Amino acid sequence: MNDHATVERSPDPGREVFLQAVLGGLSERPRSIPARFLYDSRGSALFDTICAQPEYYLTRTETGILEARAAEIAGLAGPGCALVEFGSGSSTKSRLLIEAMDLAVYVPIDISRLHLDQTAAQLRLDYPELRVQPVAANFMKVEALPADIDDAIRRVGFFPGSTIGNLTPEESDAFLRRARRLVGADGAMLIGIDLRKDPTLLTAAYNDAAGVTARFTLNLLRRANRELGADFDPGAWQHEAFYNARLGRMEIYIRSLRGQTVSVAGRSFAFQPDERIHTEYSYKYDPHEFAESAHRAGFRLAELWTDPAELFAVVWLEAGPAPR
Ligand code: AVJ
Repeated sequence: MNDHATVERSPDPGREVFLQAVLGGLSERPRSIPARFLYDSRGSALFDTICAQPEYYLTRTETGILEARAAEIAGLAGPGCALVEFGSGSSTKSRLLIEAMDLAVYVPIDISRLHLDQTAAQLRLDYPELRVQPVAANFMKVEALPADIDDAIRRVGFFPGSTIGNLTPEESDAFLRRARRLVGADGAMLIGIDLRKDPTLLTAAYNDAAGVTARFTLNLLRRANRELGADFDPGAWQHEAFYNARLGRMEIYIRSLRGQTVSVAGRSFAFQPDERIHTEYSYKYDPHEFAESAHRAGFRLAELWTDPAELFAVVWLEAGPAPR
């Protein structure tokens, strides 16, 4: 048995999942590739660079709100609770909470095992007293916490960054219901949501002058080339982001600049000039509508904190009666 045969018989599960998503998404109309595949290591690094762009107000605005409200949040959470972060990445914002709150355990949930282990190791170094219990999973699918997290410990979910905005209203409702089951009848959720605003500001945030967002979007094609042996010509595609005011969301696509045929793992896909591949929605919220969707999921919106320009909001949801 040679090495080559071994490699073929034990495919990388991450590659396989990405491959199926790309083949499936390019076969459908409209074509799409799910946003979570934007975050390979290069994509995650580009996203961090997006967060530092002058036009991308979301990260610094949310961080400012969390800094200003950390003590209040700690008071609402109470002593000795579990902080469960959905899609933790490098846990930068959670550090603000970890320092302000009295935590029994911090549970970061992230799909990237490597990222998760690195983050957990660094947190244990920086906070030797803190119990860190990472869960490697798609946060959309997590049904329960590790069994050794005592039921008597209050659970506070944390979903920052307006990551919830990547979800369609149906997915977001499903997420909130699952989160309600996970935190339980005495739990709470702390969620960052981007607010509706002047479309000029929104459009600029997703079309930064330095072109970082464009590189972030187009990295999806480069990732397909690297991991799947696809032959996308990155120069023949363009990032496109615009605000759909009727649906209250940014829509992001990769647009084909010419007629072209691309091959992915032995399959060919023909694209017309200007044909698009959808990559992301980024929903912008009306606080009342968000409160209603939280209510449908079994939460009561207890606090909404915003910045002076009302660009972004951090909401505190208290679990209420479970929905039918
Ligand atoms: C991580 C989903 C919150 O929608 O603003 C930023 C992703 N995409 N620029 C967002 C993103 C392009 C971001 N979220």
